[in-house]
Amino acid sequence: MGPGASPAQFPVPRALMWVPSFKLPTATSPARRSAAAAVKMSRRRRSVRLRKADRSAEYQFHLPLSVISQGSYVYDSKGNKYLDALAGLWCTALGGSEPRLVKAATDQLNKLPFYHSFWNSTAKPPLDLAEELISMFTAKEMGKVLFTNSGSEANDSQVKLVWYYNNALGRPNKKKIIAQSQALPAMHLKFDLPAPFVLHTDCTHYWRFGLPGEAEEEFATRLADNLENLILKEGPETVAAFIAEPVIGAGGVIPPPKTYFEKIQAVLQKYDVLFIADEVITGFGRLGTMFGSDLYNIKPDLVSLAKALSSAYVPIGATLVSPEISDVVHSQSNKIGFFAHGFTYSGHPVSCAVALEALKIYRERNIPAHVKQISPRFQEGIKAFAGSSIIGETRGVGLLLATEFANNKSPNDPFPVEWGVAQIFGAECKKRGMLVKVVGDEIAMSPPLIMSQREVDGLVSIYGEALKATEERVAELRFKGHGMLAPFTAGWQSTDVHPLVIERSEGSYVYDIDGKKYLDSLAGLWCTALGGSEPRLVKAATEQLHKLPFYHSFWNRTTKPSLDLAKELLSMFTAREMGKVFFTNSGSEANDSQVKLVWYYNNALGRPDKKKFIARSKSYHGSTLISASLSGLPALHQKFDLPAPFVLHTDCPHYWRFHLPGTLNCKFTIAAFIAEPVMGAGGVIPPPKTYFEKVQVIVKKYDILFIADEVITAFGRLGTMFGSDMYNIKPDLVSMAKALSSAYVPIGAIMVSPEISDVIHSQSNKLGSFAHGFTYSGHPVACAVAIEALKIYQERNIPDHVKQISPRFQEGVKAFAGSPIVGEIRGVGLILGTEFADNKSPNDPFPAEWGVGAIFGAECQKRGMLVRVAGDNIMMSPPLIMTPDEVEELVSIYGDALKATEERVAELKSKKNN
Ligand SMILES: Cc1ncc(COP(=O)(O)O)c(C=O)c1O
Repeated sequence: MGPGASPAQFPVPRALMWVPSFKLPTATSPARRSAAAAVKMSRRRRSVRLRKADRSAEYQFHLPLSVISQGSYVYDSKGNKYLDALAGLWCTALGGSEPRLVKAATDQLNKLPFYHSFWNSTAKPPLDLAEELISMFTAKEMGKVLFTNSGSEANDSQVKLVWYYNNALGRPNKKKIIAQSQALPAMHLKFDLPAPFVLHTDCTHYWRFGLPGEAEEEFATRLADNLENLILKEGPETVAAFIAEPVIGAGGVIPPPKTYFEKIQAVLQKYDVLFIADEVITGFGRLGTMFGSDLYNIKPDLVSLAKALSSAYVPIGATLVSPEISDVVHSQSNKIGFFAHGFTYSGHPVSCAVALEALKIYRERNIPAHVKQISPRFQEGIKAFAGSSIIGETRGVGLLLATEFANNKSPNDPFPVEWGVAQIFGAECKKRGMLVKVVGDEIAMSPPLIMSQREVDGLVSIYGEALKATEERVAELRFKGHGMLAPFTAGWQSTDVHPLVIERSEGSYVYDIDGKKYLDSLAGLWCTALGGSEPRLVKAATEQLHKLPFYHSFWNRTTKPSLDLAKELLSMFTAREMGKVFFTNSGSEANDSQVKLVWYYNNALGRPDKKKFIARSKSYHGSTLISASLSGLPALHQKFDLPAPFVLHTDCPHYWRFHLPGTLNCKFTIAAFIAEPVMGAGGVIPPPKTYFEKVQVIVKKYDILFIADEVITAFGRLGTMFGSDMYNIKPDLVSMAKALSSAYVPIGAIMVSPEISDVIHSQSNKLGSFAHGFTYSGHPVACAVAIEALKIYQERNIPDHVKQISPRFQEGVKAFAGSPIVGEIRGVGLILGTEFADNKSPNDPFPAEWGVGAIFGAECQKRGMLVRVAGDNIMMSPPLIMTPDEVEELVSIYGDALKATEERVAELKSKKNN
C-alpha cells in the first residue's frame, strides 16, 4: 500500500487478502480476449476462497476487485469496465496490457528470474537500468542508482544514505530531515510517528494557507523564510536534508506556488542542506516533462523513483544519488565500513528488465510530449467545472489533478463530514464507469499517460456528469427540510429531503408523488374508513361548500347540518341512550372537552373535589395538553411536563405482556375513567376477556363516569357499529372522530348521556353557560360530509361487511404468528397489531438499534403497502370498504415482508454471535 492509499483502506479484511492471489490470464492468452470468461473464472475462485475464509467479510467490504486491465481501463469481477483515472495507484503509466512489458518480464523470467546484487555480484538488467536512469535524469548530473522495491523503501534509503554521508564527512550531528507538512496526520496517528529527527515545514498549498491579499510569489517567499528560520532555529549543523515532491501527490495534488523551488533551493544551498526530490509520482512524464525536477528547475542531490519506473508491472523503486554523495560514500566506505544497506530484491533482474523496457517506451513514444499534448484538454476540461458551487479548488498540472469540494468556495468552510461529498462524487464516477481516488472531500486523478484524446474527452465528460449529480445531492443535503413542523415526526425525518408525499387516493390505495401505488393498510391514520375517492362524500362537501361553507353554532345560532348530524348520531348509538352531542374538530378536542364537561358536571352537582381522571397505561387519547395527559404513553408526557396532576394511570390491559388483572385505584375524588374499547396507537390491544364487565362494576360502585374513547373504533371497525356494542360498554360519554367523516373533513364529537346533559342544562343558568366551544364546532361542511358518511355506513351495512372480511384478515395475518421473530399478533375486526420479540417473549425485545419494526415497515413499503411502525410494533387498520382480494393482497405482502425481515434478523443475529 503506497502513500496514496486512503487511511480508511488500510485495514483490509483478512479474507480479502486472498484476492491478490487471483491468477490473471496472460496478455496473449485467449482468456484476455474474453473478459467475461476470465471474470467468471476468477469469480468462481473467489467464492471458493471466501467460503474457506471469513464469509462475513464478503458482506462488510465491497471493494471493486479489478480482475483485468486493458489500456486505460480496468474490469471488475462482474465484468464492469472502468476508466482507471488513478492509473492503479498513480502508477500504471503505460496502462494495462502493454505487451512489451509483459514480454520483457517473460523473457527475463525465462533467462534469469533472480540473482542478487550484493557483494559485487549482480545481473545485467540492474546495470543497464542504472545507466539508463542516470542518462535520463538530466535536471542535474547523477552518479549512482540504489535499487529498492518501492517508493517507501527508496525514501527510507535516502535517510540512511544521508546519515551515512554525513557520518562519512565527520558531521555526525547533521541528521535532521525537513519535510513539507502535507496535512497527512493519519500517517502518524497510532504509529508513534513522526520520528524525532523529522521536522515539518509549511505546506505549499496557496489556496488554503495563503494570507488574505498575499500574492502567490509572496506566499513562496514567506515559506522560504519560514524554512530558513526553521533551519536557523534547529541549527544548520543539525539539518541534513529537505525532502519534497515536485507536486504533492497523495497530500491532495498540490503544485508548488510560483517561484517556490527557486527560493527554497537558495535557502538549502546557503545552509548546506541536501535536496531530496521525491519523484515517485512525478517521474517519467506525468507532468509533461520526463521528471518533475525538469519542470520546476530543481537540482536535487538525491531522487526517489518508483511507480511509473516499471509502470507498476513489477515492484521496483530506485534512489538516484548525486556524484558528490556517491563519491563520498564510495571513498569513505573503506574507512568507516561499507554502506551496509540493501534489500534482497534490490536490482531484481525481472523488475529491472521491465523497467528498462518501460523507459524505452517512454523515450521512443516520447511520453512526456504526449502528456504535454493531451494534458491541456485534461486540465482545462476539468477546470472548466471549477465554478461549481460545491468545488473549492481544482488544481493540477500535466496528468495530475485534484478537486477539493468545499462550501462557499472557501478552504475554511468544509462540508459536514457525514455528507461524504467526495464519496458521493466517487460513487457517481464509478456508476458511470470511472475510478477516481477519494480522500476526505478531495478527489484525485492521475490517469495512465498513454491516454488518447478521446479517452480524455470521456474522462472530462464523466467528471462533468458526476459533478452534476453530486451538486444535486449536495443541494438535497443543504435543504434543511420542509416548512412543516410535522406531527410525531423525528427531527431526522423532518429534515429528510424525501418524505413520503402522498398525492392521490383510490379505494383502499394511495399513490405517492412519483405515482407509486400503496395498499393503505392504516387507512390514512386509522380514519379513511370509506377509502379514497368516495364520490358521495366529495359531493356532500361540494354542495355544502356552495350553499353555506360556514356559520357557527354559538349563542343559540347554528346550521342545519350540525343539528341533523347530532340527531343521526344519537339515533345510531344504541349501546345505551345518549342525550346530546357536542362537536369538536378532532378526537383530541373531543377528549379534552370530556374533561371540561365532567368538571363542569361535578361542579354543577356540588362536588368540586371529584375531578380526577383515571386512564390506562398505553392508551392514546390525543395531543392537546389534557388529552395527552389522559394518554398513557410516556413519549406524550416527556418534555411536555405532563401528565397534568389530575390524571392517574392504571394498568394496561395487555394480557400477553402483563398477565395480572388490572385494578382501579378508586377514591371518592375520581370523576371519570376513560378507555378505548380496543387500544389503538398504544399497539392495538384488545381487552382481555371480561375486562370491561369488571371495570364497569367498579366504576359504577364509586360513581365514576365511564368515557368510551371511540375515536378509532366507531362506525364499524370492530365489526359492530361502535366498540361499545362489541364489549357491552354502557358509557356515560363517548368520543368520536376519524371515521365520523371518513376523514374527508376534520370533525370530532362527544356524545353525552341524558343524565349529564340534563345537569349541564339545568345548572347552567346558575353556574353560567357551559363556556366551551371551538369556532368550527359543528362546521356545516364537516357535518354535511359526516351525515353522508353515516348514511353510507348504514346503507352499505359497513359493520356487516367488516364482519365478513375480517376473519380472513385476522386469520391470514395470524397464520404468521409462529414466526420466530413475532412475539404476538393481536387484533379484532379490521384492526391488528404485530409485536416483534425474540424468543416469543414480551421480556425479550430485539436490540432497538436493529430496528426490526422499521425493517418490516420498509419491506412492506417496498412491496407497495403502508403500515404503521412504532418501535417493534406494527399496526394495521385498513379501510373498511376493502374487498376480499385486497385482504388477500395485504396478507400476501405481510407474509413476504415478514420473510425478508426474518432473514435480516437472522443476519443480525449471526453477526452478533460472531
Ligand atoms: C383513541 C384515540 N383517541 C383520540 C385520538 C386523537 O384524535 P385526533 O388526532 O383527531 O386529535 C386518537 C388519534 O389517533 C385516538 O386513536
